Amino acid sequence: MSDFVRIVEVGPRDGLQNESQAVSTADKIALIDRLSATGLRTIEATSFVSPRWVPQLADAAEVFTGITRLPGVAYPVLVPNEQGYDRALAAGVQEVAVFTAASEAFNRRNTNAGIDESLARFQPILQRALVDGVRVRGYVSTVLGCPYQGEVPLADVVWVARALHRMGCYEISLGDTIGVGTPHKARAMLQAVAAEIPMSALAVHFHDTYGQAIANIATCLEEGVRVVDSAVSGAGGCPYAKGASGNVASEDVVYLLRGLGLECGVDLDALAATGRWLAGLLGRTTASRTGQALAAT
Ligand code: HMG
Ligand code: MG
Repeated sequence: MSDFVRIVEVGPRDGLQNESQAVSTADKIALIDRLSATGLRTIEATSFVSPRWVPQLADAAEVFTGITRLPGVAYPVLVPNEQGYDRALAAGVQEVAVFTAASEAFNRRNTNAGIDESLARFQPILQRALVDGVRVRGYVSTVLGCPYQGEVPLADVVWVARALHRMGCYEISLGDTIGVGTPHKARAMLQAVAAEIPMSALAVHFHDTYGQAIANIATCLEEGVRVVDSAVSGAGGCPYAKGASGNVASEDVVYLLRGLGLECGVDLDALAATGRWLAGLLGRTTASRTGQALAAT
């Protein structure tokens, strides 16, 4: 099993999409450029979704064309449909992420489409991406619970993940959108998906509503997952998931990995400083316990 864990930094997208106060385009660009300098290999930069649905990220093209893209760093963006894919391509994007859910009720609220309908929307994107040389990541949301439906059967998580994988998504990120999961449930969910899809093509994505995200990640690492999504300073939440709170903080994940003897290539001090800078920009204290502890020493 590899000792390297790739962190997918989702702060500029998942971290900011739910932020009610305006964040300037220049600050978004500064955030991504600072993150690029920490050694992160993947930084989800923004979303080419409908600006009516997520006004905070209406400046996606300006942000993407304004950042300094470093060689060896991937900058994926979210796209919900072909219109988003067209906008992303025009901005020079080389990797996109499509997103659906294991819960029909949540997917309707988030994308105004059923699960089958969203998969059908992705088909032409995957086909075009193959020709365009664009990599496509896939997200499955609500894998450990849904704010509208409640329990989500494991079989639904598995079939949606498999559908995305069969379509050609190189990696499937399993999202605990509202952060209700606990370690035994997270392990069972990952095992069920990994029985159908190679572990090397899976990522985990935990929100930290009940403070369980780090415990869940540690358990999933034990199971063999080697890609972890997180957001600097623990920013984030989905505007269409009632009760969704921040993502697990990237700084806390890096500290955990260090303790477990796993490499991720990230400069923790630089990352924590960026987390505190972002929190300051938003007028609050960083939600990362690691970020707070490092500031105090
Ligand atoms: P809709 O209203 O059904 O779309 O929304 P439509 O196709 O009927 O179009 C309506 C209008 O939107 C039209 O404009 C379109 O042009 C425009 P009008 O003619 O009325 O002026 N439009 C667009 N504009 C720009 N870019 C586009 C685009 N698409 C349509 N791509 C839609 C359907 C999917 C577009 C909408 O529901 C949407 O954008 N949803 C995104 C919601 C979102 O971003 N949620 C957060 C991300 S998911 C998440 O956070 C979970 C994750 O982190 C994992 C986890 O935690 O589980 C990934
Ligand atoms: Mg999320």
